Formats: sequence, structure tokens, C-alpha cells
Amino acid sequence: MEAFRLTSPPDGRQPLHGSVTVGGAKNSALKLMAASLLAPGTTTITNLPDILDVDVMGRLLGELGCEVELDHDAERATVRAPEELGHHAPYHLVRRLRASISVLGPLVARCGRARVALPGGDNIGSRGLDMHLRGLEALGASVAIEHGYVVAEVARLRGATVWLDFPSVGATENLLMAATLAEGTTVIDNAAREPEIADLCRMLQRMGARVDGVGTGTLVVEGVDRLEPVTHETVTDRIVAGTWAFAAAIAGGELRVDRGRAHHLEIVLDKLAAAGARVSTDDAGFTVAADGRLEAFDVVTLPYPGFPTDLQPFALTLAAVSEGTAMITENVFEARFMFVQELARLGAEVRIDGHHAVVRGKPVLSGADVVAHDIRAGAALVLAGLAAEGRTTVADSYHVDRGYPGFVESLRSLGVDVERVQLPDLER
Ligand code: UD1
Repeated sequence: MEAFRLTSPPDGRQPLHGSVTVGGAKNSALKLMAASLLAPGTTTITNLPDILDVDVMGRLLGELGCEVELDHDAERATVRAPEELGHHAPYHLVRRLRASISVLGPLVARCGRARVALPGGDNIGSRGLDMHLRGLEALGASVAIEHGYVVAEVARLRGATVWLDFPSVGATENLLMAATLAEGTTVIDNAAREPEIADLCRMLQRMGARVDGVGTGTLVVEGVDRLEPVTHETVTDRIVAGTWAFAAAIAGGELRVDRGRAHHLEIVLDKLAAAGARVSTDDAGFTVAADGRLEAFDVVTLPYPGFPTDLQPFALTLAAVSEGTAMITENVFEARFMFVQELARLGAEVRIDGHHAVVRGKPVLSGADVVAHDIRAGAALVLAGLAAEGRTTVADSYHVDRGYPGFVESLRSLGVDVERVQLPDLER
């Protein structure tokens, strides 16, 4: 089993010097690939991240009858969707990728039926699907759970007004895609506003969908009879860009994040600057520099444009080595604090009470063996290793590779002593 191993000097810090370039967003690319189901013909997605999840989504589209070509070097997927799609998304693929659920809306819209396995995914909470399913019902589909599958059927979807209890990213995307081919007008109220949803809206619009309110909490979709395939460039990954911003804040040094879109990370960069980091932004990216320990700051995760839950583990890790005490509040995924047990093995002082964590900063952490439970927690443990004296080994590092193409290689290029190692099964 592969692990990442870092070795840091006695003062713990391995400052970063140099630049990284951020690619396409995982959380956008997977949905754009699912959207290709909506139009018969050849859709091309560019700026695709070179990660395992993209391969899994490619295999799933293949299982649904598409011809899929993934060119990792060119960061491009070509998906040829047939007139007659399959409608069965099997468990063996869906369980490897929670985002597989985003084929549900397109399949119901295109085929009038879908059988999609209930997904597994990251270990970060119960991650319900009730809003996806209730929304499809509101659009006229009959929806049932049978033998571990969501089974949905409808002659043709009909536009309706759908109120989401919470601005769920996945539910917004599924209903949006379904509504593009429904008869009449659909209003999705309390819709999620993440930049990845705006990216999906723009692709759908270019395919011929009529979508209003892009980037707002109310999406209005006028259904059409048919969509046309397009070529679309995936938006830059704001979570990867934000991860690098935290990397510089935790380790110190000066890091240029090329193609990082600062306006998608306003709260994050403002907080880092207020805590003592030097942040400069321009059209092509941003730079974060830090000399010593930053001041601790509080964080409350919220749907976009609030502080992203996906960056919470990095904020918590930074707090663990900052001056003072921080309160981190997690409002989106209840189980995100699971990784604190691992951070504690590195000597972090964290007390959890419900969805709040109180973190007392220390000058330096202490290297140890830890385990990654999900993508962000895994990457956060690697960054903790940048401020932990001695040797830190992060097992189950495949999680990190699922979200961060070439993470170890980028860190090495910035001067970090880090390598990929194979752990014997007994050491896992
Ligand atoms: C997406 C992102 C994930 C990010 C999250 C929030 C992808 C592949 N993943 O996940 O990285 O952390 O947005 O920004 O894009 N919920 C329900 N019922 C539902 C739907 C959601 O209870 O029908 C709950 C979930 O359990 C969770 C919260 O709502 O507690 C947010 O979920 P949601 O916004 O849907 O996140 P995902 O789309 O799963």
C-alpha cells in the first residue's frame, strides 16, 4: 500500500519556494462529463484533471453506452453519446465515486428511466440524497429505492418549482440537468451557487439549454426538446488553489499559484492576509508568502460564497501551528472532524464539541504515522507534515491522488523532502 513520507528539520518548518499551476476542478469535470449524456453526439471536455475519479466516471459513461476517450496528457475527454443510452449505473462503479449520482438527472431526462446504485464515497458523513429524489419527484418522476438502487421513471419530465431545504451542490446539479430537457419551466430555489455549478450552467447554455440566474440562488430553466454536444473547458480548481494557499501559510516561504482564481477564494485569502500572510493577486493567479507563525483565526464553513467545507481541514491544520486559539465550526459535513484524531497523533491540540473544534496553536508538530480517510483530510495531513519535526508518513495516500494530480511531485519541486513509499501490509 502506497504512502507519502515527509521528513522535516527539528524546527519543523519546510518552507515552500516556487510556483505551482492549478488545473481543472474535479468537482466540475465529473459533472460536465455526466452532462455529456444529455446530447447525442460527441462532447469534448478540456482542462480535465489527471485523477482516478475521472477514469471511473469515464468507465461509468462507457457502461451507459458511450464511447469514451480519455487523453490524460492533453487533459481532455471525448464522449460520444448514442441516441439510445443504457440506464443502469452499476454498484461496482458507483461505489468508487459518489459523484456518479450526477448521472441520475441526465438519464431520467434522456431515457425516461434510470437505475443508479446508491453511492458510497468519502468518509465524511451520511451524505443523504433526499433532495435529489424529492426534486425529481416534483418534476413528475416516480422514484423508489430498490435493492440498493435508485429507480426512477417518467414518460417526460414536467417543469415545476423545487425548493431545496439546503443549497446542496449535488441536488442542484442533478435537478438542473434534468430540467434542461423537461417540458415547461423549472425553478430551483435555494440553489447552490458554487463556481462549479456556474461552470455546468455555462456548458448547458452552450448546448442549447435555457438557464437563467446563473451564479444566483434561483435557477430558472426553460426546458427544450434536444441539446447539442459542445467542447467545454473545465473551470480551475478553487479547492486545489486554496490548498496551496494554506500550504504556504502553514510551511512559510513564498508560493506562486498560477491560474488560481482569487475571486473564487475571497474569504480564504482575506483571512490569510488578516492573519499575517502576504497575499497578492492578479489576473493570472495569486501569490502567498509567510515568514513566521500566523495569528490564529476562526472559521465557519458555509455553502458558497462562504468558507468552503473542503478547505476546513487545512484551516484546522494551520490553526494547529498558529499563534493563539481558533474556533473552527463545520456546518456542511458532520464527520469532517474525523481527521482530527490523526492530527492529534502529530501533536495538535484540538478539542471537539459537536460541530465546533477549538484549536490551540503550537510552534511545531511532531512527525508520526497517520492515515488519510478522505481526499482533503489526506492532503491536510501532508501539509501538517510540513510543520512537524521528524518523519511523517501518511498511509492510504491514494485518497490524496484522487483530488490532487501530482501532489508529491509538486511539493518536491517546491523544495520539500517528500517521497512515495510502499508500506508492508502490517505497517498500514
Ligand atoms: C459536493 C462536493 C464536495 C463538497 C460539497 C459541499 C462533488 C463531487 N463534491 O458534494 O467536495 O464538499 O459539495 O461543497 O462535487 N444533503 C442531504 N440531502 C441531499 C443532498 C445533500 O442531506 O439530498 C446533505 C449532505 O449530507 C451534506 C450537505 O447536504 O451534509 C451538503 O451536501 P452537498 O452540497 O449535496 O454536497 P455534495 O454534492 O455531496
